Amino acid sequence: MNSSGSDRTTIISAERIEADIEAIAALSETPVEAGHNRPTFGAAWARARDYLVAQATAAGCVHRTDAAGNIHIRHASHPWTERVWLSGSHIDSVPSGGKYDGVMGVVVPLEILRSYPALPLELVVFAEEEGTTFGVGMLGSRGWAGEFGPDVLGAIRNADGRSFLEAGAPFGVDAAKLALPPGKRDPGDRIDRDSYVGLVEVHPEQGLSLWRLGCSVAAVDRIAGRRQYSVTLTGQENHAGSTGMLGRRDALAGAAELVVELETLGLELDGTVPGTVLTVGSLTATPGAINVIAGSTTLTIDFRSSDPDLLDRGSDRIRETATRVAYDRGLECAIEATEEIPPRPMSADICERLTAAAASLGVEMKTVTSGALHDAAVVSPYLPTAMIFVASRDGISHNPDEFSRIEDVALAARILATMIETECGIAHGRQDREPAV
Ligand code: GLV
Ligand code: MN
Ligand code: MN
Repeated sequence: MNSSGSDRTTIISAERIEADIEAIAALSETPVEAGHNRPTFGAAWARARDYLVAQATAAGCVHRTDAAGNIHIRHASHPWTERVWLSGSHIDSVPSGGKYDGVMGVVVPLEILRSYPALPLELVVFAEEEGTTFGVGMLGSRGWAGEFGPDVLGAIRNADGRSFLEAGAPFGVDAAKLALPPGKRDPGDRIDRDSYVGLVEVHPEQGLSLWRLGCSVAAVDRIAGRRQYSVTLTGQENHAGSTGMLGRRDALAGAAELVVELETLGLELDGTVPGTVLTVGSLTATPGAINVIAGSTTLTIDFRSSDPDLLDRGSDRIRETATRVAYDRGLECAIEATEEIPPRPMSADICERLTAAAASLGVEMKTVTSGALHDAAVVSPYLPTAMIFVASRDGISHNPDEFSRIEDVALAARILATMIETECGIAHGRQDREPAV
């Protein structure tokens, strides 16, 4: 390791990163033992946002919000017009989520900004990645990429019936600016290759492979694609006591059969392309009473694969299965596609640079594929993009027990800082001064 490398490893502070993760966890809606709730644009989300901005400001950074509600933070010594690297993730959580999902990818660049203000780096905090507040994921990055305009963002609503545009307005979401034509738009309101060298998102792996192999970190070569559906089966609501078992049109019994058939289909498709997964994560029966045969049920389907052809074939099979189960039981079936994003390759070039940076720190970096989706997948068609995964204990995530070792998170920060430093040819030399925070 060279001398600037050894300075770097002492200056990135695992303790400060850990303090950030704990602070953001403590700002959540739920008590820590019940997991962490930070719905996008809610009070806990806003507290986490304010915390990040305060930490960054104390470290000499400035911030702005783009028209899609994403926060951008740079050290004040790098004007917004300077072309820089981008790194970030999200602070919204699934209901009762863990401490690390999203937050890790935000506090890592924050720590780099504190430790290495000279590095050309911008931290981005994307709005509504999970899709559990507004029903559709990665809204901030899709808005910034121009994939979702004000029409779509104005129609997507949270549980209070407020659209992304309405709920986000106090946090900088600006429908009028999102609608502006390219010539009139503030350059910061749209992803732009001229503004960024590339994006690196740091994230827990949320799978077992690194933990099982005893590896701390990996580069991500590909992010699996995702299709999501909302399926409503409609039968006949009737009395549970006086309606005989034969001839019922029980929408909940139909949904139960469909759930099990979809699990079998998922197992079959996983046998074709390993890593393919199919999940029914939520089911609602109406009217949902003990003595009433359910008249309708709505269930969600989440289907992912790294193979685009299998996503197509699997989607056809999902539709056929739902239609058949409904037909056999005299139910009506309505299938709404709510999400479609193809598998996205990451930049092989950035992966190589990250691997070389890790090697310069004496760390061997494997390459893995991401089953989970990330804002990096949305950004990747517009900017060279890659991810660093950090090992997740027992592969547990979207769960309060999610855990990654803080030294592994700090290692990811060192690798990212080393890569940017090497790419920029910046010779920082020794930093005698402790960072400001
Ligand atoms: C994001 O957490 C996803 O559902 O992949
Ligand atoms: Mn995430
Ligand atoms: Mn997540």
